[in-house]
Amino acid sequence: MRRGERLWAVVPAAGRGERFGGRRPKQYIPLLGRPVLSWSLSALLAEPAIRAIVVALSDGDRRFARLPEASNPRVRTCRGGVRRELSVASALEALAGDARDADWVLVHDAARPCLQLEDLRALVSAVGNDPVGGLLAAPVGDTLKAEGRDRRSDRTVPREGLWRALTPQMFRYGVLRRALRLSIERERAVTDEASAVEALGLRPRLVPGRPDNLKITLPGDCGLAAAIITTRGRSANRPRLRRPRI
Ligand code: CTP
Ligand code: MG
Repeated sequence: MRRGERLWAVVPAAGRGERFGGRRPKQYIPLLGRPVLSWSLSALLAEPAIRAIVVALSDGDRRFARLPEASNPRVRTCRGGVRRELSVASALEALAGDARDADWVLVHDAARPCLQLEDLRALVSAVGNDPVGGLLAAPVGDTLKAEGRDRRSDRTVPREGLWRALTPQMFRYGVLRRALRLSIERERAVTDEASAVEALGLRPRLVPGRPDNLKITLPGDCGLAAAIITTRGRSANRPRLRRPRI
């Protein structure tokens, strides 16, 4: 990042988790004693370069205010929308008084609790001098099948050059705002920020990230996320403190 450019973060957390099902939205499911959203915010909060984090919430959300992160001075909230891109766009609007077009914004899913500070820093350092921006991503490992009639495989899709898009994704504030505005205006379905930026004719940088930065989508994903967090040590996202000199 050049001098004078600042870093902000946006966390869309206004989804209803329909595929996950259950009584409460998946971002509030307890995972090792803390809600998923608390874990998802932990890597962002561990990075002091991030000025503020805007969390987009659904209308009438009364759960967020009870999280310890809600009282962090760097955490703000805004009202999300009925689609993910509307939630992100709303959070960007909430930053309009503070962020400049050339500043950088990280967008991270509320449902991705396994992000590690190391990956976040790798993204910021790989993308901070890029003209377009980029995203954490992991090369596809499995063989891919194209489904035909009767749930039978019609053919195998070559996996070479295919990546899974993860978050965070990092773009300049001005570029991202323009990209999302255009996608929303044209009613184009976008499931991540990079696809909105691609529609401007720009090519986001793919930054290899840990494949275990999974998104909780179905109930079975919780056990996996808990195992990932336990294996790496629950305190992995604590900023390393310098040892005092004696
Ligand atoms: N999201 C959001 N606003 C929406 C829809 C989604 O802020 N209107 C957020 C979710 O809270 C989640 C992230 O976008 O953190 C990724 O979306 P997804 O995994 O699709 O979550 P949901 O939309 O909640 O789940 P589903 O699609 O199963 O309903
Ligand atoms: Mg969704």
